[in-house]
Amino acid sequence: MEHVILNGQILERNDAKVDIEDRGYQFGDGIYEVIRVYNGKFFTADEHLARLFESAEKIGMSLGYTLEELKNLLASLVQRNNINEGTIYLQFSRGVAARQHHYPAKDVKPAFTAYTKEVERPKSKLRDGVQAKLVEDMRWLRCDIKSLNLLGNIMAKQEAAEADCFEAILHRGDTVTEGSSSNMFIVKDGIVKTHPATNLILNGITRRVILDICNEQNIKIKEEEFTVQELLSADEIFLASTTSEVMPIVKVAGKDFEMNGPGMVTKKLQDGFEEKIAQQCS
Ligand code: PDD
Repeated sequence: MEHVILNGQILERNDAKVDIEDRGYQFGDGIYEVIRVYNGKFFTADEHLARLFESAEKIGMSLGYTLEELKNLLASLVQRNNINEGTIYLQFSRGVAARQHHYPAKDVKPAFTAYTKEVERPKSKLRDGVQAKLVEDMRWLRCDIKSLNLLGNIMAKQEAAEADCFEAILHRGDTVTEGSSSNMFIVKDGIVKTHPATNLILNGITRRVILDICNEQNIKIKEEEFTVQELLSADEIFLASTTSEVMPIVKVAGKDFEMNGPGMVTKKLQDGFEEKIAQQCS
């Protein structure tokens, strides 16, 4: 029987019920994280949970747990569900209250839910690469918050999916920001470039691991804006996320960018990422 977390308690999935006036359900008023489990162990859990607390602070929410309490509870669920390779999804909504737009009274507690999923690593895609489509970034101006409100991301991903693409490469006008559910990187003349961690992107945990690997291996990295034109004339493109890891983009739909599998720098970063997993999760 699969178990889940509802407001700090581990329950059987069928016993976990959410109120119809939960603000997450009605407004998307809440925040979330997705953490990877390799070999039964969390990868970069502290970083994900620290970002959760940052998101909470940015929207004026107090979670009512410490980071350690949360991590222990989540680890119990992973163990209970016997997850070896997978993910844990956790979210905090602002709680249950009669529908009104402004925040409810302070005594309304956030609603906390979490569940696990067995997810295999995307091995063939990591080896062969994926296709992506350029889509105008029409999201709001606080993309740094890991908000439950994902309509802009979802609509962009749908546009990509309809073009048989794995990801949408978002751009605001000329500037590439990130993917619909990933961060975007290019490599040109041995230099890795990714959008700086401003309000226009989510500062991905995988992104930060990649920055660390670059620094450790003396690969030049610039956290700088780049244009659609720079993307299309890059030597390599890859995306990064918790579930997609370091994923080569080998084709941009309808554009003049195509390659036969991952480039050299992308491969090096994939190897470095593999080492990070081994260090934390073996
Ligand atoms: N994606 N940008 C956006 C808009 C995202 O939704 C995500 C996460 C990222 C990468 O962040 P991280 O490396 O912390 O996962 C960037 C979900 C969780 C995923 O596809 O796994």
